[in-house]
Amino acid sequence: MSGEPIRIDPISQPQAEAEDAALEVTEAQQRQGEQMSAATIPTHGVMEGGGSYNLHARIPAGGGNLALPYLEDAARSLAVRPGTDPLVIADYGSSQGKNSMAPMRAAIRCLRSRVGNERAVMVVHVDQHANDFNTLFDVLHNDSERYSVDDPNVFPFAIGRSFYENVFPREQVDLGWCSYAAVWLRHIPALIPGHFASVACTGEVRAAFDLQAADDWRLFLSLRARELRVGGRLVVVFPGMSDEGATGFEPLFNSANEILGEMVDERVVGADERKRMVLGAYPRRRAQLLEPFARESQFQSLSVERCNLFELPDAAWTDYQLDGNVESLGSRHAAFFRAIFIPSLASAISDAGRRLAFADRLEQKLKKHLCDRPAPFHSFVQVMVLAKQAPAVTPPARSNA
Ligand SMILES: C[S@@+](CC[C@H](N)C(=O)[O-])C[C@H]1O[C@@H](n2cnc3c(N)ncnc32)[C@H](O)[C@@H]1O
Repeated sequence: MSGEPIRIDPISQPQAEAEDAALEVTEAQQRQGEQMSAATIPTHGVMEGGGSYNLHARIPAGGGNLALPYLEDAARSLAVRPGTDPLVIADYGSSQGKNSMAPMRAAIRCLRSRVGNERAVMVVHVDQHANDFNTLFDVLHNDSERYSVDDPNVFPFAIGRSFYENVFPREQVDLGWCSYAAVWLRHIPALIPGHFASVACTGEVRAAFDLQAADDWRLFLSLRARELRVGGRLVVVFPGMSDEGATGFEPLFNSANEILGEMVDERVVGADERKRMVLGAYPRRRAQLLEPFARESQFQSLSVERCNLFELPDAAWTDYQLDGNVESLGSRHAAFFRAIFIPSLASAISDAGRRLAFADRLEQKLKKHLCDRPAPFHSFVQVMVLAKQAPAVTPPARSNA
């Protein structure tokens, strides 16, 4: 497979519509978000700490890379405010920061070509409070690819708050980037009998996940629409789902699920703990991402400029085909699963020592399983570019007098 888009279907720029009522919905959804966040498992969706995510997140890095031209276009086309106020780039769901360096550099480079070198640019990395911010700050300070290395007028910041809440005051953000993060739901709506992944659920459980995902996407969009300035752009990158309903990760998730069953038989995990192990990651189809825009063409003053699905070849598999090193293939796939998904599964275990032993054992067994049955995990990447429109001015009512 190649990195060529397999579906390019830009949505035409919609007509400006009255949006006054729409922003009221944002406030209702925001209140709902606050109530839900209190019920959210603290470690839900947080990546493995100690810099582990940065080391093993090459698949999200590959997905983000495919979206770079879209981010660059967005930085070139957003409406730049005249004056000297800082430009603001928001990085929603930054995790430990390594994968944010290339996109932030690219965005800053494009903005610099428009505003010169003197204008201040603020880059604000947003993640959940339990994120490994120590590693993020280390990357911002030491990484050779850090975007501030050759630009004294770039100022990095970080915020530990869920993106299902207001993260910025109204109309502060010029350019938003959110890569491989909005796939995580605000709240896990149901346990999944016999599995841990939403892609495997059916019936009522599937319906509960579908509803949660639809609500969360609307809430995410509403909140970002408030934060964006008029003329600003938001680029959202997702691990995608094809129109046929495939993500490419099914064999990986099924292997891990089989191993969890073995771990219950071995009494490494209790049956009750196993039942509570559910991932809050929900890959959406293109139609689900576009649904809020279907009726009015705009949603909360946002319009869709691009919505493209790509195939992302598995780089570990490409290397394996060249070097035949099955150990390395199994290690890379198992370490990827550990860094991203095991912390959420382990949150069902209350004892910290047992959580670590669980993570070690699951990774070890998964690696063996994957080495015994080597397979590629070619996946999908969905890229969306959204533009914030000016609210339409309603003409005064005409009098007949
Ligand atoms: C797979 S990582 C993606 C990191 C990085 N953007 C990348 O492309 O590699 C997902 C990140 O989203 C964050 N995340 C998930 N839910 C979130 C929420 N409600 N608010 C803020 N961040 C969230 C997680 O904590 C995690 O750091």
